[in-house]
Amino acid sequence: PAFGTILLTGAAGKLGSVLREPLAALCSTLRLSDLRPLTQACSAKEEFIACDLAQTAEVQALMQGVELLVHFGGVAHEQAFERIAAANLIGLYNLYDAALTHGVRRVVFASSNHVNGFSRIDEATTPASPPRPDSLYGVSKVYGEALARYYFDRHGIETVCLRIGSCLPEPKSPRCLQAWLSHRDLIELVRCAATAPQAGFAVVWGISDNQQACWQGDDAERIGYQPQDCAEPWREQVERARPEMLSDPRMRFQGGSIVSRDYRKPA
Ligand code: NAI
Repeated sequence: PAFGTILLTGAAGKLGSVLREPLAALCSTLRLSDLRPLTQACSAKEEFIACDLAQTAEVQALMQGVELLVHFGGVAHEQAFERIAAANLIGLYNLYDAALTHGVRRVVFASSNHVNGFSRIDEATTPASPPRPDSLYGVSKVYGEALARYYFDRHGIETVCLRIGSCLPEPKSPRCLQAWLSHRDLIELVRCAATAPQAGFAVVWGISDNQQACWQGDDAERIGYQPQDCAEPWREQVERARPEMLSDPRMRFQGGSIVSRDYRKPA
């Protein structure tokens, strides 16, 4: 296998569960971690260590012997700031600090499209565009990408930041016509991010090959990511199923429904 030990955080989560089997194929040991118990028992190659990312000593112990960190743990939607801060600010710092201590070479970081959620839907957006987070959750991902950049520039730890759109088995809403990432493409994206010979600091939009995409200019080519799926065949179905969403004014923004939450800005 390409790796000795890979650490997968968020292993009990929606995307973590999808990634377990493909990541196990890349390594001799897949160390799984989460706050919660796993939904599915460990296979022969897997081991599970429960850990709260906010606990510095626990995270240091978790990182022992790890070659690659695939970080999908933490708060994955808008929540009270204290919880976001514990997992996504303190927790992420703990992970990078432990990665430095234990000589981890590369991190694959589940960032989010919500770093630019307040950019307009028709605005071409690249990793060089100024961040316009649409939530405190989005702000925490901007911090995450900055922390990743810092650890690369100062310490040479590589990170591939995946700005994941909407990762679901099938597109569910009109927004998915641009934001959908199929499970198959997620798996390929993470494989490319893990194994690309030279990743450096990279930012890649986590979307399938959608026709209606305003997200561009990323490092997909550098890591060799070529999506196979596309949301277009679901167009009629999602537009029929959710007609009210087509006229929602908050659909002007890239973040979609998360933007509507307590939105009070005068027109
Ligand atoms: P999820 O909520 O299903 O999984 C996250 C896991 O992290 C959970 O199992 C949770 O128990 C764990 N966690 C939360 N706080 C923790 C802490 N303090 N210490 C240790 N573990 C903790 O989320 P999902 O959908 O699997 O997302 C995974 C990652 O991908 C997240 O970072 C999320 O922000 C990102 N992402 C996901 C998208 C999607 O479409 N599902 C879209 C954009 C980004």
